[in-house]
Amino acid sequence: MTLETEEDLVGLKIIGRIVANCLQIMGKHIEPGMTTLELDAIGEQYLAEQGAQSAPRLVYKFPGTTCISINNEVAHGVPGPRVIRAGDMVNIDVSAEKDRYFGDTGGSFIVPPENKVKRHLCDSTRRALEAAMLVARAGQPLNGIGRAIEGVASHHKLTIIRNLGSHGVGRALHESPEFIPPYYDPKDKRMLKEGMVITIEPFLSNGATNVDEAKDGWTLFTASKYISAQYEHTMVITKGAPLIMTLADAM
Ligand code: CO
Ligand code: CO
Repeated sequence: MTLETEEDLVGLKIIGRIVANCLQIMGKHIEPGMTTLELDAIGEQYLAEQGAQSAPRLVYKFPGTTCISINNEVAHGVPGPRVIRAGDMVNIDVSAEKDRYFGDTGGSFIVPPENKVKRHLCDSTRRALEAAMLVARAGQPLNGIGRAIEGVASHHKLTIIRNLGSHGVGRALHESPEFIPPYYDPKDKRMLKEGMVITIEPFLSNGATNVDEAKDGWTLFTASKYISAQYEHTMVITKGAPLIMTLADAM
């Protein structure tokens, strides 16, 4: 969507704060031995308390409230009996709707003990998001986002999951501009405009470049030798720094 009124900004900030808080609360509650369904239930309770509805459940009939993806699962992991273990890389993606506005955020958490590969992957992916946000300006080409992500990935000798993109959001979970590539596409002539509401969500990996869909019809995964990380914000494009909607309260 394109932001038009003060009411739009308020609505996006409200749902943005809810999904961001939900992500942080779930991240704090990750414990080895718990199932992904138990972790999802924490998010489900928080969203319900806030009067928000899970967007993937609402829009796609996703069989869970949040998406929880572990290790070589990259995205859209279905909460269930899988037990979280020490050393796992856990990605949580929270998107939700309230008062007809949608917010979308995500982040990766390392269950202790950490190792260098996982820490490097998380730190670099966060940097890729930050670098992309520095070039996400009204009047600039949309493909600058992918170019910035690519620059950080190659500098840190990491690969990009190429078939997962960022996207327009706000009045729907996924809307125009659709599929903002996480790599530089010189043929993409789309421009960033003032008030545009988009996500930026790079997925970086230690070797994988694409995801496949699992037999469950939801989970997107890579070969088992790879791991990946993702960080995602919903933001409003301006002539200056984007306005981040998915900011959590201090906890
Ligand atoms: Co998301
Ligand atoms: Co998204």
